[in-house]
Amino acid sequence: MTTELHEAGPRLKSDSDFWRDPYLFYDKLRSIHPVYKGTVLKHPGWYVTGYEEAAAILKEPAFINRVPLPEASTKYEQLQRLQRPQKTASFRPVIEEIVHELLDQLENKKMAEMVSEFAFPLASLIIADMLGVPAEERYQFRQWTADLIQTIDLTRTRKVLAKGGDTVAKLTAYFKDLIEKRKAHPSQDLISTFAGHEQLAEDEVLATCILLVIAGHETTVNLLTNGLFLLMNHPGQLSALKENPLLIESAVEECLRYESPTQLTARTASEDCEINGKIIKKGEHVYILLGAANRDPKIFQNPHVFDITRKPNPHLAFGAGAHVCLGSALARLEAQIAIPALLERLPKLKLASTDIPFRRLIGFRSLAELPVILN
Ligand code: HEM
Repeated sequence: MTTELHEAGPRLKSDSDFWRDPYLFYDKLRSIHPVYKGTVLKHPGWYVTGYEEAAAILKEPAFINRVPLPEASTKYEQLQRLQRPQKTASFRPVIEEIVHELLDQLENKKMAEMVSEFAFPLASLIIADMLGVPAEERYQFRQWTADLIQTIDLTRTRKVLAKGGDTVAKLTAYFKDLIEKRKAHPSQDLISTFAGHEQLAEDEVLATCILLVIAGHETTVNLLTNGLFLLMNHPGQLSALKENPLLIESAVEECLRYESPTQLTARTASEDCEINGKIIKKGEHVYILLGAANRDPKIFQNPHVFDITRKPNPHLAFGAGAHVCLGSALARLEAQIAIPALLERLPKLKLASTDIPFRRLIGFRSLAELPVILN
């Protein structure tokens, strides 16, 4: 069975159909078994494409996250605060201001590239604001984060890994310097809060900063750009949203489900566990394909239809269980503010090309560029 599927599986270097639409392949994998053992996406392990199975694994503590945050630590509590409604809402004025500043720059242009001219500056300014990174340093920051994403993807090569090591060293040096500055002159940001806790070792603070950059930056850029891309590719849904702006909340959930920015997360079994009749042995790796779980027909009717009114929509785009995303409320708010503002101020927005490829990453659904016509 494994050999059969492996041969039918994507050739990662050359299979452009897979990169355009990995969901057909995920369906095929799920139809063999929602918990499938093989080396289908380069690495040996269990590939989980079923929704119920994915949720069960994410919620089962015996499956360990390879990059855990210590749950009892002060910094974890600080991070959890991000999810409190009051805290999230406090970002609203900042997000609105940045969105409108960016739109001021786009309004009179004929064409634009929405990753670099809209989604990236928005997401990076917000995360910079939250962490306390000076705005003028954000472009360098973006380059570093883009490099890091490639190193954590399953498609990584040795060359990419080596470059990633370099980037981590640069980011670490950068944050070290910032922590020192905030120790001397504290402000309201997260780095000042972390730096002020004497019981937190410097390397813990550094690791948390880097985790936040990886976890929260690129993913938010991808939610914004995938969302715009989807709406422009589905004109009926786009007009429905324009006619009824109250649909924005369910529209953002559907974008998260349909093109989930984080497509894959990994776990290692700390003991033998049974999931849907399969025994996953201690030490084995498990690849949870969130993008596949979010298209499972057992849970989502017509899963390959993009429907901004879909309800309920219990997608797993932010994970589940103990490691569920700590930035989900913030990311949702950014998209709920940015997308309607953009559609209102740029009513003629349309794609500049019919062939806009996704980056060749397994773990992330990410457009390298989103060229659009504005006027
Ligand atoms: C659309 C945007 C985002 C998506 C799709 C996303 C997705 C995810 C997913 C799937 C996980 C779980 C990973 C796992 O279980 O292995 C996660 C964890 C996490 N996310 Fe997000 N995320 C987004 C935005 C953010 C933002 C803006 C922040 C920070 C401000 C953030 C911070 C975190 C942190 C700290 C964790 C680790 C939680 C833990 O291990 O306990 N994320 N995210």
